Amino acid sequence: MDLLLKGGWVVTQERVEQADIAVEGEKIAAIGPDLEARAAAVRDVTGKYILPGAIDVHVHYQMPIGELLTADDWFTGTRLAACGGVTTVIDYAEPAGPAEPLTEALAKRLEEAREQACVDYGLHQVVLPGQEEDTGELAKVIEQGVTSFKVFTTYNQRLGYAAIGRLLKQARRLGALVTVHCEDHDLVTARRRELEATGQTDPAYHANSRPAAAEVKAIEEVILQAAAAGAPVYIVHVSTGGGAELIAAARARGQQVFGETCPHYLLLTEERYAGPDSRLFLMCPPLRTVEDNRILWQHLASGDLQVVATDHCSYSPEQKAAGTAFYNTPSGVPGTETLLPLLYSYGVRQGRLTLPQIVRVLATNPARLFGLYPRKGCLAPGSDADLVVFDPSQEVILKASDLHSAAAYTIFEGFALQGYVEATYLRGRLIYDLGRFLGRAGQGEFIPGKITVL
Ligand code: URP
Ligand code: ZN
Ligand code: ZN
Ligand code: ZN
Repeated sequence: MDLLLKGGWVVTQERVEQADIAVEGEKIAAIGPDLEARAAAVRDVTGKYILPGAIDVHVHYQMPIGELLTADDWFTGTRLAACGGVTTVIDYAEPAGPAEPLTEALAKRLEEAREQACVDYGLHQVVLPGQEEDTGELAKVIEQGVTSFKVFTTYNQRLGYAAIGRLLKQARRLGALVTVHCEDHDLVTARRRELEATGQTDPAYHANSRPAAAEVKAIEEVILQAAAAGAPVYIVHVSTGGGAELIAAARARGQQVFGETCPHYLLLTEERYAGPDSRLFLMCPPLRTVEDNRILWQHLASGDLQVVATDHCSYSPEQKAAGTAFYNTPSGVPGTETLLPLLYSYGVRQGRLTLPQIVRVLATNPARLFGLYPRKGCLAPGSDADLVVFDPSQEVILKASDLHSAAAYTIFEGFALQGYVEATYLRGRLIYDLGRFLGRAGQGEFIPGKITVL
């Protein structure tokens, strides 16, 4: 035995039980009471929780927009993930334009990550207008382990609803999962024109400029397209209660619709745009209301939303300051490092979710949906030894200076946490311990997704 975690509370998607975990090489060898302590390394984890490494299925590292690149690259992005108990991330391979073949975009992105990643990673394939017709390219990226596609209903990359319908049909035949950024482009454009006409373009108008109705409308259209195609569909970063209700209603009708939300949509509101730091909280879709927060928590608890991911897309305050209006401020926020601690404190300790439920939304469900299960996302013999030692007795006030994003700020500054990540193991290797990053660039591996019947 290479490693034995002794005396902790093992948290799986089903239960919490006192057990030891034995690791051999990169895999979990055994889980059970009183395992023999003949291991090269024994760690006493009495009073701690052992969770499967979290999976953040929505991150953007070194992503270009115009002249800008996000603050976190593959190295700093995956380093901060390790420090937050996240052992697998899924980023995006996006073609530079509709003329670039999907396989070329994918090859470039894999090359970027290869020597930089500190945790394991997968990729979603962004599909640009017209590329939804190219069955050959879609099939090729799936063969290379990219089993999910990503499309947008807004931005320059947007596909019309009918084109999304065509992609859904292709994906159904190929066994892939289509994921969609949902904000109706016409509604967003119309509102922007109104605000521009009255000179209300300051970043303070960001929430107003991308109304809840735009998200709800796009989710409704996409659910209809998925029903017509007979395909499953996954809605990324749901920010509105109305969107969550549509997903719940479709599921109640028997449709395979899956939804992801983010810590910021659960814990922050649009009041943040009124302050002097509005740019630092500017992301798309925008922050909403306390009532939206409440409905999103409720639908996580009911299982109608299956995943919490962060949409980690970080820009430094200096990069953000370049924005003069809501439409030209770099959009996105850092989040991966605080994902698990926030879900534990504000989910479990405040009675909104159970520990097994946070394992489901942060590990098991993401692994199942994106073809990584049971290698990732669970604590079981034979699975990768991606382990988080979580100390529920550590009280922490979140401060950017203790975190590891190159953006050097957090939207959760000052948040009080009860419990924090003590240590992170990636495939049996200790990569974070008691505040110190111990991993190295290049140790993260690409984990090909497998086609799974959902
Ligand atoms: O504002 C955001 N969320 N930026 C990242 C790109 C996206 O839409 O997810
Ligand atoms: Zn998005
Ligand atoms: Zn509901
Ligand atoms: Zn995103």
